[in-house]
Formats: sequence, C-alpha cells, structure tokens
Amino acid sequence: FFKHTLYSIVLILGSICITPANSSPIVIKFSHVVTPDTPKGKGAEYFKKLVEERTKGNVKVQIYPNSQLYKDKEELEALQLGAVEMLAPSLSKFSPMGFTAFELFDLPYLFSNYNDLHKVTNGKIGQQLLTSLSTKGIKGLGYWDNGFKVMSANKPLVALKDFRGKKMRIQSSRILDAQMRTLGVSPQVMAFSEVYQGLQTGVVDGTEQTPSQIYTQKFFEVQKFITLTNHGYLGYAVVVNKKFWDGLTPQIRSVLEAAMKESTDYVNKIAEQDNQESLAKIKASGRTQLLALTPENQSSLKAALTSIYPEQEKRIGKDVLDAVRKELA
Ligand code: LMR
Repeated sequence: FFKHTLYSIVLILGSICITPANSSPIVIKFSHVVTPDTPKGKGAEYFKKLVEERTKGNVKVQIYPNSQLYKDKEELEALQLGAVEMLAPSLSKFSPMGFTAFELFDLPYLFSNYNDLHKVTNGKIGQQLLTSLSTKGIKGLGYWDNGFKVMSANKPLVALKDFRGKKMRIQSSRILDAQMRTLGVSPQVMAFSEVYQGLQTGVVDGTEQTPSQIYTQKFFEVQKFITLTNHGYLGYAVVVNKKFWDGLTPQIRSVLEAAMKESTDYVNKIAEQDNQESLAKIKASGRTQLLALTPENQSSLKAALTSIYPEQEKRIGKDVLDAVRKELA
C-alpha cells in the first residue's frame, strides 16, 4: 500500500512539474438563448473559430446556445457573478438592470433600415452606451444585428382594431410595453425560451419577432398569420465580464478584440439575408400566411406606435434622443 501511495504521489508531483501552471487554456463560456443557425448563433461560432485558431487553443470558447445554461434574465446575473464570461443579450434586456437608454433601440419606426441603425451603433451614442455598462462590471465589445420585427398571431393583425384585446409576448422593455398598450394589446414579458409554449398553449395570442427567430424557434408552426410590419429593430450587445477581461494579458485582449471586430462585420453582413431567407422558408412551409399592410393600415399603425414618443422621450432622455436624431439625419 505504502509503495502504491508513494508511486501515486510521485506521479502527481511529476505531472505538476511538467505541466506549467499557465498552460491550461483560458476558457470563455459564451451563453445565449437562440439556436446556432441564427445571426447571433453563427456569430458566436465564427468568433470561437477565429479565437481558437489564432491563440492556438490557448483560449477556448465554449458556446452554450438555446438557453441551455441560462434564460434571459439569469444570463445577465450569471455574467456579473462570473459564472459565464460572454453573452450577447438583445438590447431590450439591459434596461431592467438600470440601463434605460438602451431602450432607444426599441422605439418603433426610429430606424428605417440597417444602415440607419449602424449610424447609431457605430457612432458616439452607441459607444457611450457600451461604456456605460462598466458601472455594473460589464465590458461592452460591440453590436450584432438581428433584424426588423414583424407581428404574429392566429388572427390577422392588419387594422388597428385587430390588435385590441390581444395578449402579446414582449421582451422586458418598457418601450415595448408602451408600444403594445397604445394598440390596446396586453403585453406579457416572457423569457425567450418560454415563448413557443406560450404561443402553443394560448397563454399569449401572438408576439413581435424577427423572421429569423420565428423560423428557427418554429413559432410559425403555432402562428397562422404574420404581418410584415417591420416596425422595430432587434439586435444585440456582445458583452464580457469586465473583471475577466481586465485580467487578460494585453496580447490576448488584442487577439480577442480583432476577432470580435471581424465577427461583428460577419454577423452584420449576414443578418439581413438570414432574415429574408427565413421569411421565404416560413412562406414555403405553407403553415403561416404572410400579410403585407396597405399604405393606409401602414400609416395608421405608424401613427399609433409613434404616439408613445413624447412620454418615452422623457424616459430615455431628450439629450440622448436628440443626439441619435442628429446621427440619423
Ligand atoms: C427575445 O427575447 O425575443 C430575443 O431577445 C431573443 C434573442 O436573443 O434574440
């Protein structure tokens, strides 16, 4: 027995000596709530590939998609606690943590297209918002697109009266809440991972979402109609735990920064097409009817949704919104 134990100790000591302490890879756990075949899912894979190649495996990126580790709210708590290192929550999910100005991205009809959006995310306000996250131990690395939202339900949502009395799932943003209430809709905040079931069982009648999500989450299987409203944007901030980030060597940080920049360019290049293809696949499934709005219905929806601006401007800050409007002009 003694000989055996001694032998084990020698083996353990030996392995400690030949394995330098710093040779174990740095692990970045990247948790997210969507499927791998979405703009965010593909971006995470792209980032992983670049980082692992360029650091020769010294940094490992472990991706946990589909809310398999954490749901929406929990993932932000996990990031702050250091249980995961990286996330890309949608911009609507930062306001419950006190970052109200992020809700500007939820304002209906503020951005006409991706180009508009990038003027803000790449501009001064976009960068200020990312920097502001450091007060809660979060480092913002960039913005990833998903796309413009459409409305879905089991009844056609075309005229304003069609919305009245419906229950619709929203993300946790007060602007989205106000946007639904002004239509006479009862908004229900629900974690993303619970939406399919919510729609299937009728806990909610419908939702607003990008085509990419409606397709990859199979919402179209339980929603008969989609109205092509494109009334608002859904996108992400890629964030890391700041303490983790600050603890990395400058060399590693610069590899990660470059990989993030390239991943961001990649996601923002594929997102629009990804959404177009998703819409085409939903259409081809024959399960959901796609409805286009007439110009009249389009303008009454726009008038109703933008009526929330004066009240919401106070929430986000007039100075912030004035600066955004300048960037968009
Ligand atoms: C949602 O909750 O609807 C989205 O934020 C999910 C996501 O990450 O795209």
